[in-house]
Parts: sequence; structure tokens; C-alpha cells
Amino acid sequence: MTALNTPTETVRIDLADRSYDILIGENLLEQAGTYGQLPKAAAAMIVTNTTVSPLYEAALRHALSGHYKLIHSVQLPDGEAHKDWVTLNLIFDKLLGLACDRKTVLFALGGGVVGDMAGFAAASFMRGVPFVQVPTTLLAQVDSSVGGKTAINHPMGKNMIGAFYQPQRVVCDLGVLKTLPARELSAGLAEIIKYGPIADMAFFDWIDANMLALKACDTHAMAHAVKRSCEIKAFVVGQDERESGLRAILNFGHTFGHAIEAGLGYGEWLHGEAVGCGMVMAANLSADMGLIDAAFVKRLTDLIARAGLPIKGPVLDAKDNAGHYMALMLHDKKSVAGDIQFILIDGPGKARVSAAPQVMVRAVIDRCCA
Ligand code: NAD
Ligand code: GLY
Repeated sequence: MTALNTPTETVRIDLADRSYDILIGENLLEQAGTYGQLPKAAAAMIVTNTTVSPLYEAALRHALSGHYKLIHSVQLPDGEAHKDWVTLNLIFDKLLGLACDRKTVLFALGGGVVGDMAGFAAASFMRGVPFVQVPTTLLAQVDSSVGGKTAINHPMGKNMIGAFYQPQRVVCDLGVLKTLPARELSAGLAEIIKYGPIADMAFFDWIDANMLALKACDTHAMAHAVKRSCEIKAFVVGQDERESGLRAILNFGHTFGHAIEAGLGYGEWLHGEAVGCGMVMAANLSADMGLIDAAFVKRLTDLIARAGLPIKGPVLDAKDNAGHYMALMLHDKKSVAGDIQFILIDGPGKARVSAAPQVMVRAVIDRCCA
């Protein structure tokens, strides 16, 4: 047996009859025991993509071989640009073509794009089949695989069509992060950094002190970062599963970030890159509204830059850039009766959801884009 650097940790998502465990550790993917408590079914369907399949599908098949008589798979085209109806339908085509029944268990093997689409397919195929998240990007391990948000994009807005649907289990194998390109690792760091300003300044300090180890994908550092991120997300989701209030704070940086993604065309900037830059913009707005001081904005901006993320937003429209951002942000799911809602830092470690004066939002966009 391979020696492990870190023990396997479990974080519980407490949601009554929809509760489940997140397993975090090394060499989990290929171990049959990892998937021990799954619903009994004749067939499993691995939903993955053309990049992840050659790397990890065989290991997952091996682990599941004692559990299921039939193990099918579907390899989706890779990329945010394919998080749409056409690609989602490939999953349904495969399930129906193979006469899969309502007990079939779906395994999402990949990053957030695969996880969000496989989750939405699981929520809607035959009105709901069980699914397991096996996230293979840092971003998916610390955020997207946890909490049950599933969706596809619409050309007019990010994640506009989807469902809340919880997985049966999340399996975060830290070893798979070793094959992630550096740009994708940085994108995942954005969602880790996010948890500091909104909820836990001690974690923010730890990220600040350990950025080099995180960028080097050090297993100990990653184990702590993934566990603490999942704990914070578990706490928030446990309080507010369907985002009627508190859960919105997890969208810090996302109002601006989603506008960047939609405005540039999905996939041009990575989701984590857009969120990183969106956090800089949201922090600037928080400072302009008198909620935090300039020193904190600088500290956060420097940390985001050290994570390898962009800190200046793209110019989406040479004539009226701020107007273009505002029009895109109106489509945000948090908008209420034409008012764009922002996640603002209400003092380090605390967040609030609030509208903001248009003139201030415009000033932030003008200042933060280049
Ligand atoms: P992604 O799924 O596109 O994966 C990034 C890239 O890494 C892809 O090319 C993928 O094929 C590749 N890849 C995956 N695992 C790999 C590995 N181990 N080694 C090498 N390459 C690997 O992007 P992402 O950043 O994981 O996820 C972004 C998506 O997640 C966005 O669509 C975003 O909206 C969504 N998201 C959802 C939630 C949620 O709560 N549901 C939260 C945050 C983000
Ligand atoms: N990523 C934001 C959420 O899960 O609510």
C-alpha cells in the first residue's frame, strides 16, 4: 500500500435526509471502499470529459467494478463553452440509448463544468437519480461539487438553467490535483481565497502565509485548504440550502465575475479568474461604501495577484464599458426588481448582500478595468 502524507478527512453536509459526506484524502479515487455506502443499482454511468477520461476513468471503473454489474460512461466535449443544452443532451442520449433505469447512479468525474452538468442530468433524468461527485479540479473540490447547485449556461447569463440537487457523496482525491495545469490551479485558489473575507480571517491569514505551498500543490497545504473550504461551505449550505439568504455570500466576486464570463464569451477567462478579479471589484465597492479600509482592499488584491489571477477586469465595450457590465449584471440571479445585488465585505471576515448606488458601481468598473 502506498504511504500517505495526510489522513483521510470527512466533512459532513448536514441537510436532514439529504445529508452526505465529503471525503478528502490521497488515493481515494481507485479505492473500492471510498464508495462503500452507495445506493444499490445494476448500472453506473460515469459522466466525464475528453480530457479527464484518459487520466482517471480507468481508476474509477476499477474502484466501482465490485459495486455495479454494468459501468457505462459518456465523455463530453471539454470546456465552459460546452456547458449547454446540446452537451447536456449527450448525457440523456447515452442514458436512454442504454436503457438505463431510475436506479442508475451517475458519477461526475471532472471539474465544475462536468459536475454541474452531471448533477443537472441526475436531477432531471427520470425526475431524479442518485449521483456522486468525484471532483478533479481544485475549484470543484473546494466549491462546485459541494452544496447541490447544478446548472447549464444560457448565452444571456451564467448558470441560468438548473436545479438544487444534492449528491450522495463527494470524493476529493488530492492526488488528481497534480495533473492540473497551473492556470486551473490558480482558478481554484480564487474560490479558496473567497472564504476568508466573507467568513474566516484566520483562514485568510493562513492562505496568505501558505500561498507558495498552495501554488506548488503541496499535499499538506492542499489537504488543509480543501478541508477548511468545505467546512465553511458545509456550514453555510447547512443554514441555507436554497439560497434564501446567507448562502448568497458564497457569491462574493461572482456578480462582477459572471458579467466578465458572459461578456467575453464563456471559456475566454476561466470561472476562477473572473471570480478573482470580481472579488477585487467587489472589495473596491465595499471600500467606496465605507465598509472596509483601503489597506484591506490592497491586501486582498495582492493575495489574488500572488495566486496568479488577473486583478484588472477586461474592457467589454470601448464606448460604454460600465454600462455594458451593468446590463450583464442585471441578469444575475440575485437581481431583485431591476436592482443588482452585490456581496460586499462588511468588515474583514463578514459579508452582506446589498444593492449599491449606480454611480459608485460605475466608478469601480472604470477604475478596475484596463
Ligand atoms: P472545468 O470543469 O472546465 O475544468 C477545468 C479544466 O481542467 C478542464 O479543461 C478540465 O478538463 C481539466 N481538468 C479537470 N480535472 C483535471 C485534472 N485532474 N488534471 C488535468 N486536467 C483536468 O472548470 P472548473 O474550474 O473545475 O469549474 C468551473 C465551473 O464550475 C464553472 O462552470 C462554474 O460556473 C462552476 N461552479 C459551480 C459551482 C456550484 O456551486 N455548482 C461553484 C463554483 C463554480
Ligand atoms: N458557489 C456558490 C454556492 O454554491 O452557493
